[in-house]
Amino acid sequence: MATVDLKDVRKTYPGNVEAVKGVSIAIADGKLCVLVGPSGCGKSTLLRMIAGLETITSGTVSIDGKVVNAIGPTDRDIAMVFQNYALYPHMKVYDNMAYGLRNRGTPKDEIDRRVRATAKTLELEHLLERRPRELSGGQRQRVAMGRAIVRNPKVFLFDEPLSNLDAKLRGQMRVEIKNLQRSLGVTSVYVTHDQLEAMTLADLLVVMNAGTVEQAGNPLDIYEKPASTFVASFIGAPPMNLLPAGQGGAAPASGAREGAATIGFRPEDAEIANAGDAPADALALDAEVEAVEPVGAESFLYCAAAGSRIVVRVSGRAAAQPGDRLRVVARAEKLHWFDASGRRVD
Ligand SMILES: Nc1ncnc2c1ncn2[C@@H]1O[C@H](COP(=O)(O)OP(=O)(O)O)[C@@H](O)[C@H]1O
Ligand SMILES: [Mg+2]
Repeated sequence: MATVDLKDVRKTYPGNVEAVKGVSIAIADGKLCVLVGPSGCGKSTLLRMIAGLETITSGTVSIDGKVVNAIGPTDRDIAMVFQNYALYPHMKVYDNMAYGLRNRGTPKDEIDRRVRATAKTLELEHLLERRPRELSGGQRQRVAMGRAIVRNPKVFLFDEPLSNLDAKLRGQMRVEIKNLQRSLGVTSVYVTHDQLEAMTLADLLVVMNAGTVEQAGNPLDIYEKPASTFVASFIGAPPMNLLPAGQGGAAPASGAREGAATIGFRPEDAEIANAGDAPADALALDAEVEAVEPVGAESFLYCAAAGSRIVVRVSGRAAAQPGDRLRVVARAEKLHWFDASGRRVD
C-alpha cells in the first residue's frame, strides 16, 4: 500500500531537451493513475523517474510520503511492465516469474508458493513449463504482469503494456488489468497514448502535452469539461468539433461568451433539426454532408459547416447522404468555449 506524490518534477536531457517541465501529481493509495498524451510528451520519462531508471533534474518523487529521488530502482519497491514484455527468452514461464524473488534471496518454498498463486490468479498454471516463444502475445503480456505481481510491490508502473496486441485482445486485457489492479489494490501508474484505454482504466486521468500537465482529474469530468482545446480534441473519438467563434465565426444568436475565440461541441451533442427550430442560445449551423460513416450502432456524418469540417453522431443508420444539406443544432448547455490561448472560458 502506498501513495505516490510528484512535486514540480522536471527532466532536462543532455542537449537541453526539456522532456518534463514541472509536473505535480498526487496519487492516493490503491488508485490507478493514467498518463495520456501524444508521442513525445514526456510520459515514459516521467514513469522512468518514478521507477528510478532516470535521474530527476529537479522536484521530488515520494512513495508513501518518503522522498525517493536518491534511492535506486531496486530499493523503491516498484514493479514495471513494459510494452515489449522484457521476458527472458531462454527461461521457462516459471523461472521468468521467479527471477526477481530469487535475486532477492527469497526462500525456495516461498517462491514456489507465490509463483503458483500468481499463476493461478492469471490463469497461467498450465503454461509454467513453456518458454516465451511458445506463448501468444496475450499470454506473454500476462506473464509480464505475473512477474510484477509475484513480487508484491508497493507500486505498479505500466508503460504502454498493450500496444503490441491486436484491438480485440487489447480490449480484453484492459478489463483484466483493471480488475486485477482493483482486487490487488496496488497503487499504479499507467502510460498510454490511447485515449480510450486511458478513459476506461483511470481513477485519476492526467492529460499531458509537451512535458506539462494540461488537465488532471476524474476521466468523465475531463470529458465533460475539458480545460483546453488540446484536451477537448485529444479525449473523445471522433474529437470535439471546434470552430472559430465570434465575429465572422460560429456563434448562437444570443448568449455568446465574452472573450471566446473558439466554440466547441461533441459529435454526440449535436442534433439534426428543421430550419428555424433552434432556441436563440443554441448554436445552429447550416451544414452540407460530405461523407457518411456507418459503424453499426451509430453513424458519423462528416459535414462542412461555417467554413470548417464537423462531425455529427447519429444513432443507428443515417438517413443522410453526401450532398444533403442539414441544420445542425447544439444546445447552449452542450457548448464549450475557449479563449485565444485555448483555455476554457466558463
Ligand atoms: N535519453 C534521452 N535523451 C534525450 N532526449 C530524450 C531521451 N529520452 C527521451 N527524450 C526526449 O524527451 C521527450 C519525451 O520523450 P518520452 O518521455 O519518451 O515521451 P513519450 O513517452 O510521451 O512518447 C521527447 O522529445 C524525446 O525525444
Ligand atoms: Mg513512451
